[in-house]
Amino acid sequence: MKVLGILGSFKRDGITGQMLDQVLANVDPKIAQETIFLNDYTIMPKSADLDVLVSKLKEADVWILAAPTYWGGISGIMKNFLDCLRQLTLRFDKYGDPHALGTFANKHYILLTNCYTKTLENVLTGATDATFQTFDKVMTAMGVIKVGEAVQTNTFGLKELASKKKAELKSLGQKVAQIKRKDDLTVKRYIELFFIVAVMAFITMVLQTGILKLLGLSLGFWSNYISFVLIFFILLATALRILTLAKHKRK
Ligand SMILES: Cc1cc2nc3c(=O)[nH]c(=O)nc-3n(C[C@H](O)[C@H](O)[C@H](O)COP(=O)(O)O)c2cc1C
Repeated sequence: MKVLGILGSFKRDGITGQMLDQVLANVDPKIAQETIFLNDYTIMPKSADLDVLVSKLKEADVWILAAPTYWGGISGIMKNFLDCLRQLTLRFDKYGDPHALGTFANKHYILLTNCYTKTLENVLTGATDATFQTFDKVMTAMGVIKVGEAVQTNTFGLKELASKKKAELKSLGQKVAQIKRKDDLTVKRYIELFFIVAVMAFITMVLQTGILKLLGLSLGFWSNYISFVLIFFILLATALRILTLAKHKRK
């Protein structure tokens, strides 16, 4: 097994570099590791440096992608790297929709980012969400599986990570050894879906029964069915929206 740290920041020893180092320092020593500082490479489509980087990506089983949040999104250095991978790792069908070529099948990734934005502001506004979303979009298109993510807020004037953040990053590093090579998430997704449907159906029935009791109504089959579908749909749509928004770490 091999883990590859990829640093997409202007500074080698800045906060992003420190976050990456902290994760890597806590990866099981039996696992081989390497760090790439993207600024050391000339990354352009079809460039020799890009070939070198792609072969490093292929060699590794787990990628730790670290990039600061710049202008409300992923840093340009990292974005340029991801942009250059597009043609190499995807094929496009006649509608222009991307399909993974399988170049990176069964690989895993961990995301790290940071920002000047204060913790409470990030919790409320999600200033770092766009960074994570861009990473996830690219990785999902390439068929790479997510392991976890971490964010450091309030980095203005910050010279060293706080011990609480170091502990969080340490546990991310320790997680690497537990990653299964072939991680089939299909069963997990069906189980999650089953529980979401079961909980939503239960809440719908409780609401429906309660409302009807309150109004002193007894509905026929179709009125019952239509009101059930409507309540169920509103609850499910709200739950999915909340789950999507709260998906990313903000502190
Ligand atoms: C070009 C640029 C754009 C930035 N944009 C944002 C931003 O939109 N929001 C934010 O909170 N911080 C922003 N920052 C601050 C960086 O997120 C902060 O410098 C980062 O945590 C530093 O990481 P480093 O120590 O690895 O360089 C920006 C910094 C730079 C250099």
